[in-house]
Amino acid sequence: MRAIVTTRNGDVDALKVETRPDPAPDKGEVLIRVKAAGLNFADILARQGLYPDGPKKPCVMGYEVSGIVEAIGDGVDHTLVGKSVIALTRFGGQAELVVAPVTQIFEKPERLTFAQASAIPVNYLTAWALLVTMGGLKKDEAVLIHNAGGGVGLAALDIAKHIGATTYGTASASKHDFLKQRGLDHAIDYRGQDWLAVLKCLTNNRGVELVIDPLGGSSWKKSYRALRSTGRMGVFGMSTASASGIRGKLRALKAVLETPRFNPLGLMSRNKGVFGLNLGHLWAEGDKVAAWTQEIVRGIHEGWIQPHVDHAFPFDQVAEAHRYIEARKNIGKVVLVP
Ligand SMILES: NC(=O)c1ccc[n+]([C@@H]2O[C@H](COP(=O)([O-])OP(=O)(O)OC[C@H]3O[C@@H](n4cnc5c(N)ncnc54)[C@H](OP(=O)(O)O)[C@@H]3O)[C@@H](O)[C@H]2O)c1
Repeated sequence: MRAIVTTRNGDVDALKVETRPDPAPDKGEVLIRVKAAGLNFADILARQGLYPDGPKKPCVMGYEVSGIVEAIGDGVDHTLVGKSVIALTRFGGQAELVVAPVTQIFEKPERLTFAQASAIPVNYLTAWALLVTMGGLKKDEAVLIHNAGGGVGLAALDIAKHIGATTYGTASASKHDFLKQRGLDHAIDYRGQDWLAVLKCLTNNRGVELVIDPLGGSSWKKSYRALRSTGRMGVFGMSTASASGIRGKLRALKAVLETPRFNPLGLMSRNKGVFGLNLGHLWAEGDKVAAWTQEIVRGIHEGWIQPHVDHAFPFDQVAEAHRYIEARKNIGKVVLVP
């Protein structure tokens, strides 16, 4: 099979399409012929050497795929063969074939293309955990979604609109028209102006009940200040560190040094909460993740979950796909097709 291999830490020239042995499904596993594989910011950070959860290099990245079940291991229902599925994969998804435990696959809703289907798992499960499970977002509350035009950002917007919350989102200015069409109530350009001042102005100085922040470093300090009483902040990334080579290491160090330290007494007196999420550390919580997945699938059938694929790049153009996200050009998801 052909697979995208991250050969070492570095720039996009570290990415190669190589031939690797076909994998075979073990007991309780299925073999999937991949139709589309999601590209996530984690894959970019892994290539840059800034993702501690990534496998040892050379490696095949890829947390999620859509495709067709081609073979099954012992103990797996044989009627699955030939079915179109979506799978969470613990790496290895950016290949023509991937093996996944049967517990990590679910049927692809017919209304989704394979490209849209591969945009579901990471973005929507992350957004669900942040907004619903941990963030407890309620109707008529206000939520600030950072990087609202990105993959997780658009997923969070779908879910927040369904809940009935008022939505504020930061994004590069070129994405604002699209975001408003998708239902974002207030788009804020966080690169050309002080987003906190704009948010305070828009909320009569009150702030919001929930912020989700994947930027890290000093941004977390600022997002905390955007919370009104009873507000919660969910932290889930460090995009601000993104760069290859020594520049990335320095940015990561800066972000760590600028990370705020929260004091329980301060949280208590201010009526605020802070929580963190790492979807990649929830493999042992299969039942929870399966329950969130069911809700997401319901949302797809009901039409309030609408994955938006910006661009599908062939495997051979994986370097362009990484560059596209690093240059902040993507609106929603970028996927890779074999
Ligand atoms: N903890 C978890 O479980 C988890 C799961 C999924 C994703 N994440 C994190 O969530 C964030 C978004 O992930 P995603 O996969 O959905 O990607 P994405 O949002 O598609 O990421 C790309 C977008 O992020 C924004 N951005 C902010 N800082 C950037 C930088 N320094 N370089 C390039 N782009 C930057 C840009 O949009 P604008 O400039 O328009 O804002 C860009 O278009 C990442 O930090 C990722 O690591 C965490």
